[in-house]
Amino acid sequence: MINGKKVALIFGIGGQDGSYLAEFLLSKGYVVRGVVRRASFPNTKRIDHLDIYDDKYGKTPASPFYLLYGDLADSTSIRNILEEILPDEVYNLGAQSHVGISFQNPESTMNFNALGPLRILEAIKDLKLKCKYYQASSSEMFGISPPPQNEDTTMLPISPYGIAKLAGYHLTRMYRKAYGIFACNGILFNHESPRRGLNFVTKKITRSIADILVGNREKIVLGNLDAKRDWGFSKEYVQAMWHILQHDKPDDFVVATKETHTVREFLEEAFNIFGLNWKDFVEISDNYKRPAEVPALLGDASKALKTLNWEPKTKFKDLVRLMLAADLKEKMQEKGIAPMGEDKSDEYYLDLGKELAQKLAGQKKEKKVEGLLESLEGLKKEFSAGVIEGIVNQLKNG
Ligand code: NAP
Ligand code: GDD
Repeated sequence: MINGKKVALIFGIGGQDGSYLAEFLLSKGYVVRGVVRRASFPNTKRIDHLDIYDDKYGKTPASPFYLLYGDLADSTSIRNILEEILPDEVYNLGAQSHVGISFQNPESTMNFNALGPLRILEAIKDLKLKCKYYQASSSEMFGISPPPQNEDTTMLPISPYGIAKLAGYHLTRMYRKAYGIFACNGILFNHESPRRGLNFVTKKITRSIADILVGNREKIVLGNLDAKRDWGFSKEYVQAMWHILQHDKPDDFVVATKETHTVREFLEEAFNIFGLNWKDFVEISDNYKRPAEVPALLGDASKALKTLNWEPKTKFKDLVRLMLAADLKEKMQEKGIAPMGEDKSDEYYLDLGKELAQKLAGQKKEKKVEGLLESLEGLKKEFSAGVIEGIVNQLKNG
């Protein structure tokens, strides 16, 4: 505690969830410290707006918010940070979080995602800290177990990411049981937002649609469209993380919307808003297919609702719209199509998008007609160049 305020330490604060969680905890009056790893180019874009506090107070106990350098692969940095900050709550959101890339980088994924939580928990134990610990576990751990999935579903992961996360999950439970640490797992199903990393499928789709509408690109290249995911809104899911640590005993909780959709349905929903057919814009490439794939995720979060009174408000259709509006805003402002800095509603950007889509459809129609006319011209030439003569000859020769 600092001046009667709880201290939260967030690993992975620069990520999608870390940034929303930091905002949420600051709004609750917490003192927040975040761990970022060194990067050759700043990796703090999602939290730069919070760093105003740093200028005012510097890195002093009085500062409501500041960042420290650390790495989940570096036990020394983890121990030093825990000893310096003496947090009341530790949120471990740090991870190599891309399932597809975990097949290409399996060792570092295991190192960060499995040994990372081990290093933090071991340091908490050795330093005899009285803090609570939150582990960012994942629905990817369910793997090929059929839906719906809840806390009792068998976990059969089929990616290096899922297997590493399952190790982190069990370590969290083991440190709870063996050492009495208030250690909890949030088993979160997919959750997205305008801050989602660019190479996750939802963001890739909404950003590409915005790019297509403003004229930056023509196609989206994707992999498997059949997978089903239970997609929620990150800003709401980080509140569930906090609720999990406020419960009177340490436990594990599924966090999900109880609604599932294929990637194809996400495409349909997004393109339909603009009256466009997704099939005109999507190409499939094996480059984006994975060696093994979790076929279907659908979370049953009844326990979180019953025990924590937590429930998601933003469902699939709203999520698609809010992500599209955010990407359209950014791209339209870049192109000077929408005014900079003005606080317009999501509907404003979606309506502008619809106007652009109509123009695009008109241009596509014109191009199609031009193409048809060109083919007819070609046919005309071929006919005059003797095709008819050939047919007559063939007929004559039987
Ligand atoms: P994210 O945007 O990829 O954020 C992950 C964060 O971890 C980034 O800030 C990243 O830093 C940091 N990180 C990576 N390796 C690190 C290392 N070696 N040392 C220190 N920090 C490291 O992911 P997210 O969507 O916010 O997800 C947060 C957590 O929840 C992750 O653990 C993820 O696996 C888990 N999870 C996510 C979902 C989901 O659908 N979003 C669902 C279930 C579980 P850089 O910016 O430097 O890369
Ligand atoms: N990323 C990506 N890129 N995925 C694609 C693409 C593509 O071009 N084309 C199709 N997909 C399919 C993937 O094969 C997968 O079935 C689905 O879209 C979702 O992929 P991602 O958005 O990358 O998410 P994920 O489900 O693999 O993993 C996310 O959710 C997990 C929870 O279930 C990540 O946020 C993980 O960190 C998280 O633990």
